[in-house]
Amino acid sequence: MKTINELKIGYIGFGNMAGAIARGLIQSGLKAENMYAVSGHFDRLSEKCEKMGGIHALEDPMELAAVSDIVFISVKPNKIRDVVKPLAEALAGDTEKLVISIAWGYNFDRYFEEDILKDGTHLLCTCPNTPVSINKGIFVAENKHSLTEMQLETVEELLSYLGRVIFVETKLMGASGTVCGCGPAFADLFMEAMADAAVMYGIPRKTAYEMVSAMTEGNAALQLASGKHPGEMKDEVCSPGGSTIRGVAALEEHGFRAAVIAAIKAIQEK
Ligand SMILES: NC(=O)c1ccc[n+]([C@@H]2O[C@H](COP(=O)([O-])OP(=O)(O)OC[C@H]3O[C@@H](n4cnc5c(N)ncnc54)[C@H](OP(=O)(O)O)[C@@H]3O)[C@@H](O)[C@H]2O)c1
Repeated sequence: MKTINELKIGYIGFGNMAGAIARGLIQSGLKAENMYAVSGHFDRLSEKCEKMGGIHALEDPMELAAVSDIVFISVKPNKIRDVVKPLAEALAGDTEKLVISIAWGYNFDRYFEEDILKDGTHLLCTCPNTPVSINKGIFVAENKHSLTEMQLETVEELLSYLGRVIFVETKLMGASGTVCGCGPAFADLFMEAMADAAVMYGIPRKTAYEMVSAMTEGNAALQLASGKHPGEMKDEVCSPGGSTIRGVAALEEHGFRAAVIAAIKAIQEK
């Protein structure tokens, strides 16, 4: 069995998310020269691969499927049938080769029910988020998969370089992907709004963003480290008759929590 550093990693589709994954893995010490990518436009791909330290840009997806130990399916969901199905034979059968899908809306059963991948393919379906590029991301991973125990260990180690790996049941993949994949946009809105308020009170814009981001990062890290209920953390900073509870009351008055829940619901009901 190859070590993580010896593994050949291929990306079928090398856009925003695959680029973020490759960046995170290279930052963790994996070699660009052990990575391979195909995409829709070869010229653009070559340039991007060159800039990322010499990832191999390939024209033929079949070559990528043959050479890679781990293949990320990272094209848009509407391209999967056309791009991945012709590779099905090459991706199946080899006990060492495994496939990680990051495509939104594609779970394990769907690949086989729609005859995109063949029985015998070692497949794990995931949903990552963009902070993987700085090794602070999340991979929500589906409990149902066809990796061997050893492959699962390898994948967990590899993906842990990029952040957290959280396994969930198939039926929870949609909501989990929404929270982790779309959530950053909601957090961005919160951070921008808070920085706007800071600027309104004279704090320079750059300092405002630095303060808000560091506050958000530190608070999230505290929750993860302590395991405390967020409500308890909120209670701890709200002294009776104090300032913070007035801000909390103002947020409640403006439907803050309901707005956040409605955002997730809007995506789930799409
Ligand atoms: N972005 C996110 O935050 C996020 C989060 C979770 C999951 N995902 C999933 O990640 C996947 C990729 O999303 P993305 O945001 O990275 O999209 P993207 O930036 O549009 O990248 C898509 C890639 O697929 C390539 N492609 C198009 N046609 C192809 C073909 N026929 N053969 C090979 N490659 C082809 C594109 O190449 P050209 O640009 O050269 O056409 C591009 O490199 C999606 O399935 C999405 O659901 C994304």
